[in-house]
Amino acid sequence: MKPLGPIPAGFEALHGELAISGRKVSSLVEDAGRTPLFVFSKGMIAERIASLRAAMPERLKINYAIKANSFAPLLKHVAGLVDGLDIASGGELAMVQAAGVSGERVSFAGPGKRDEELEAAIAAGVTLNLESENEARRALAIAERLGKTPRLAIRVNPDFEPKGSGMKMGGGAKPFGVDAERVPALMREIVDAGCEWRGLHIFTGSQALDADALIETQANTLGLAHRMASEAGMSLPKLNMGGGFGIPYFNGDTQLDIEKVGTALGERFETLPDTLADAELFIELGRYIVGEAGVYLTRIIDRKESHGETYLVTDGGLHHQLAASGNFGTVVRRNYPLAIASHFDAEPVEVANVVGCLCTPLDRLADKAHLPRAEVGDIVAVFCAGAYGASASPSAFLGQGPAEEMLV
Ligand SMILES: Cc1ncc(COP(=O)(O)O)c(C=O)c1O
Repeated sequence: MKPLGPIPAGFEALHGELAISGRKVSSLVEDAGRTPLFVFSKGMIAERIASLRAAMPERLKINYAIKANSFAPLLKHVAGLVDGLDIASGGELAMVQAAGVSGERVSFAGPGKRDEELEAAIAAGVTLNLESENEARRALAIAERLGKTPRLAIRVNPDFEPKGSGMKMGGGAKPFGVDAERVPALMREIVDAGCEWRGLHIFTGSQALDADALIETQANTLGLAHRMASEAGMSLPKLNMGGGFGIPYFNGDTQLDIEKVGTALGERFETLPDTLADAELFIELGRYIVGEAGVYLTRIIDRKESHGETYLVTDGGLHHQLAASGNFGTVVRRNYPLAIASHFDAEPVEVANVVGCLCTPLDRLADKAHLPRAEVGDIVAVFCAGAYGASASPSAFLGQGPAEEMLV
């Protein structure tokens, strides 16, 4: 038997079934017309943002990184609750524009921005987080051709490694950002070229659950921003401090202590150096905002035995839930939180493997999980499906197509 990850707080049984935003899964599936189905809870997202705001210093602004989940109704909902949105492509720019978000509230990071993407972003008044000197020069040339003043910030490849992050994106050689020691010169170059100077972006990593490690990373980030600004002889109008707030996916993971992080950050903000004194200070979060508010529902199509093991074969799988299958950034596969949604309050009585419908051994949703008895037709819920589900899975694989999505 292998343990399942912890089911996020806020999910309860209603007449024996899992309920999301007070509605039974059977009725949600009926409304959607089919499984597989992602259901995202509006209320849980709003509560999450409210608790973040309560824990963080008032001065801190919160951006949503839409790569985590760009489902249009969800994006519109989140956009109304956060201060800004971070995008990573021209496609994501079109999504935020469709959600009615003005370019002023959007910043665009990501290596390899094409000329058309730079042009669309500059025309929309989006802040570009520049990833290299070449990109800076291309952006300035495009802006000149358009007769626009570009809003430019520099993404920094920090000279420190974050501790406690599941995915590190800073320290040493990286394709992201400009190496810290070259940043002051680039700051002077783009400001002299007449851009609207938007400060620095320092994103070091993702999926951190350890408050002390995050506190240290944030202190290092503020210190580095100050050093670069002093060297360039400039102050920073904005500093995007990155994010990396994680959520518990696996057995043994615990919730990040955001009160502790917020208190430490508040103390830092009391003693900011001159270069940062007037800066707008941001964090950018994806999974922490939406991850736990989403559930993936998939129906059991077959129940079979092989060499003494039970397999519950579902109509979903890694084509919608690559991360839950263990094939998106994990070295050792562990079980996500999962339940038999049709019998959410039933006791576990058997050990079963839950697999998807793809003909690959990679397509697993739970290994040797202790579950209530489930039959063909029952619905399985995979939790922590609000982030990097549909937006980070190969939905075209084997002609399966995307899942339904619903915000309730
Ligand atoms: C630049 C940047 N911002 C934000 C995020 C969002 O990370 P998370 O969803 O873990 O908060 C990422 C994730 O890779 C990123 O690369």
